[in-house]
Amino acid sequence: METMQLGNEVNTTIYTDASLELVGELLGGRRAVLIVDAEVYPRFKERLPKTLVYSVTPGEHSKSMRQAAEVYRWLQNNGIDRDTVLVGIGGGVITDLTGFVAATYLRGVSLILVPTTLLAQVDASIGGKNAVNLDGFKNIIGTIYQPEAIVCDYSVLASLPIEEIRGGVAEMIKHCMISDREQFDYFAAHAEEILSLRREALQTIIPWSIRIKKEFIEADVFDRSIRRTLNFGHTWGHAVEAVTGLHHGYAVAIGMCFATRLAVHKGLCSPDVLNALEGLLTRFGLPTGTKTLPWVIFEAMKRDKKRSAGNIHFILPRSIGKTEIVDIALDELKAFIKEG
Ligand SMILES: NC(=O)c1ccc[n+]([C@@H]2O[C@H](COP(=O)([O-])OP(=O)(O)OC[C@H]3O[C@@H](n4cnc5c(N)ncnc54)[C@H](O)[C@@H]3O)[C@@H](O)[C@H]2O)c1
Ligand SMILES: [Zn+2]
Repeated sequence: METMQLGNEVNTTIYTDASLELVGELLGGRRAVLIVDAEVYPRFKERLPKTLVYSVTPGEHSKSMRQAAEVYRWLQNNGIDRDTVLVGIGGGVITDLTGFVAATYLRGVSLILVPTTLLAQVDASIGGKNAVNLDGFKNIIGTIYQPEAIVCDYSVLASLPIEEIRGGVAEMIKHCMISDREQFDYFAAHAEEILSLRREALQTIIPWSIRIKKEFIEADVFDRSIRRTLNFGHTWGHAVEAVTGLHHGYAVAIGMCFATRLAVHKGLCSPDVLNALEGLLTRFGLPTGTKTLPWVIFEAMKRDKKRSAGNIHFILPRSIGKTEIVDIALDELKAFIKEG
């Protein structure tokens, strides 16, 4: 169990290695509505409180203003007031959507998150950021709003497709790269156990990964400086995702390799770091590059929101476990791509 206090008066308790039945206990007789992934809910229905349910069609397209508005209307039609707890059950799409709705409906109602993907357990549900997409731009409307509890039941991960497991692992490898050499080595030594979701392995890596994300957030709740480190692999990765449609985690894996190559090129880290990262990603069946032309990705990246006045923030590794935020001029990046 982890707790975090992140500035908006709510103390979030993160229950790791918990069971779904805990949700009912945490509600303790309060009125609740479940906002669920329509594919996921039927699997776990019996273990969840019997109450009103709003089912959301899975997929990124459900993270929209239109979908949020539909949920608001449904809440209103069902007479949901400020004393009701919204419980979001699903992957990052559902935790983001439910977080956004809970933050804005009646100016804020209580929220519990039940992340059901590896990515949502170690990343999307942690930190209070929520968002919906608008006109093809990802995550541009949202708030920072903390849930009162996050319930991580590892057993629900068993039905995840392998791609979703690998995608979650990519974000955890990111956590290793930005903070912890020892954990990097643990991943290298336990790849099989992790991919097959062996419980002892999950008991090690999930709470650890949550703690790393939590530490970066606590150091910078409003995302002005050090929290950006969590974007390692994402500057290039988001563009790869936009252009290729690859799974987010796969795109982040490619983005981490790109940033590390750039760091080697700038003399910030040794080629050994790149070799170790590529080796680890490969072990988990994650990609280290893409066949798409780098110029196409470059153009997509320029359109991304993180650009500021001709420079792009990159998180570049110095070694495994240590990174630096570096402003790279677009011209420098162009030259690097041309050479490579
Ligand atoms: N708020 C944040 O800080 C943050 C951080 C990272 C990612 N995100 C967001 O998270 C989203 C991605 O999250 P995701 O990868 O969890 O995607 P997702 O919610 O789309 O889930 C992926 C797929 O897995 C299925 N699924 C979920 N749980 C399952 C289970 N237990 N068994 C079988 N299938 C299951 C879903 O139906 C879906 O098809 C993106 O929208 C991203 O922007 C947010
Ligand atoms: Zn990510």
